[in-house]
Amino acid sequence: MHITGIIGSPRPKRNTAVLVGQVLAGAAERGAHTASYTISQMQIAPCNGCEACKHTAQCVIKDDMHTLYAALNQSQGLVLGTPIYFDHVSAQTKTFLDRLYAYLGPQLEHYYPRGVAAVLAVCYGDGDPALYEEVVAWLRERLSFYYGIHTLAVVKLHDADARPAARRPEALAQAFAAGQQLVDYLSQTPHGG
Ligand SMILES: Cc1cc2nc3c(=O)[nH]c(=O)nc-3n(C[C@H](O)[C@H](O)[C@H](O)COP(=O)(O)O)c2cc1C
Repeated sequence: MHITGIIGSPRPKRNTAVLVGQVLAGAAERGAHTASYTISQMQIAPCNGCEACKHTAQCVIKDDMHTLYAALNQSQGLVLGTPIYFDHVSAQTKTFLDRLYAYLGPQLEHYYPRGVAAVLAVCYGDGDPALYEEVVAWLRERLSFYYGIHTLAVVKLHDADARPAARRPEALAQAFAAGQQLVDYLSQTPHGG
């Protein structure tokens, strides 16, 4: 079983990366093959809106997104981590999401692998743990609507600047458990179901 982690923070060792890493560690502990990718360390251009993918189901932009398409095509699990920037996902995360448009056919039928389950990790600086549920709901709902991705767990970290993830054992444990849960769920769910 393959699980792909996507880190949408430009800070490769901070909260989002730590939480995605913990989720993947939990998945690996259950026997999954894991890999993670930091968008900002790759050459990934924004979608140019050419719509060529609607005819070919392939993105014409020749960049590192094709590394991610290849990884996603063989992954049953997705771990998507984003910081909150200006009350929404980061630009890096949005760029990644826009480029998933290549999986979407003209009638909204999709070519994304079937039966994929996800864990979301969302980090932000504000001290209110109740914030940004609408961002989480948007991500969860859109991933499901467009690509049939079932979000199994969400790891949300508030106050992430003052109290970083790496020093919060409860957050690390929650992320690790989410990774284990992801593999357990996928093991019981026929891929493609
Ligand atoms: C450009 C920018 C915009 C931000 N906007 C928000 C925001 O709207 N709400 C918030 O709570 N934190 C905001 N933050 C704080 C980040 O969400 C916080 O630093 C988070 O930990 C970043 O994730 P990282 O540590 O994985 O890089 C912002 C930070 C930056 C750099």
